[in-house]
Amino acid sequence: EVWNPNGKYRVISTKSMPGTRWINLLIEQDCRLEICTEKKTILSVEDILALIGDRCDGVIGQLTEDWGETLFSALSRAGGKAFSNMAVGYNNVDVEAANKYGVAVGNTPGVLTETTAELAASLSLAAARRIVEADEFMRAGKYEGWLPHLFVGNLLKGQTVGVIGAGRIGSAYARMMIEGFKMNLIYYDLYQATRLEKFVTAYGQFLKASGEQPVTWKRAASMEEVLREADVISLHPILDKHVPPCNKERLHDERAILVNCSRGPVVDEVALVEHLRENPMFRVGLDVFEDEPYMKPGLADMKNAVVVPHIASASKWTREGLATLAALNVLGKIKGYSVWGNPNS
Ligand code: DGY
Repeated sequence: EVWNPNGKYRVISTKSMPGTRWINLLIEQDCRLEICTEKKTILSVEDILALIGDRCDGVIGQLTEDWGETLFSALSRAGGKAFSNMAVGYNNVDVEAANKYGVAVGNTPGVLTETTAELAASLSLAAARRIVEADEFMRAGKYEGWLPHLFVGNLLKGQTVGVIGAGRIGSAYARMMIEGFKMNLIYYDLYQATRLEKFVTAYGQFLKASGEQPVTWKRAASMEEVLREADVISLHPILDKHVPPCNKERLHDERAILVNCSRGPVVDEVALVEHLRENPMFRVGLDVFEDEPYMKPGLADMKNAVVVPHIASASKWTREGLATLAALNVLGKIKGYSVWGNPNS
């Protein structure tokens, strides 16, 4: 699909993206926009090389693509100056290779913060209250009447929420869980989450003044401390390489809830399946997987797992926002403006 065929700058989007604002932005600024209409979900390096061709000023790509040495050298040879992921995470992008070939890299932070945090909260609740299991039970016609033991789950109020990676998304999630369910906080991050700490303190004072039990917070010295002490743990590192995987040594709690809306490799999925099998009271909510789009054997059979297909940023407003920011990143570099999200500048 080609927009503004006579535009001066050739920009490629490897996928169709939601909304029209991003398209208008590019064509109004003299870009010839080519949107790849290839039906297969994941484009290979060869597919993208063919799209780049001999001349290309910038590319908007997707987190499913492998943006390394081969693609950045080809883009640079074609005169390309900019690449933007339509995602905040950029573990699919070799930023060093981009630097080497003089290609600016953009990502799309900010617009997905609340949407992603809301999905992490949804998965926490779904796991705590066994919603998917109970839904399947109803649909299978198994409900014969109220029973004292039927789908007994966890009460969140007064429990501890653990956040690993207290950046924008981790902090938004923590606030939802603290304010919504009066949970205490333990977090681990290399940087101090001052605003989050202030929020918990102020909210705790408010609860106390209202005659309720105040909430508390603690900054953990290690990721292991959070995994040991929290009742509900949500993983939010920006890059999977920033934290060691939740593997056999780190997964030892028998009744906690673990949520992952970051990247699959943060959790050792084989170890997780074993842990879920051995600890039926341990529950997990996963939006991402080690080898997407696949799940490790056994995971799909686990009743104590809620699994969704990488949809944490999937609200209309957010997806349109991601597309707009990605277009602005590429356009900004081509036209010499600043790049919004810029892990390599
Ligand atoms: C991201 O932005 O990194 C999410 O995984 C998808 O929106």
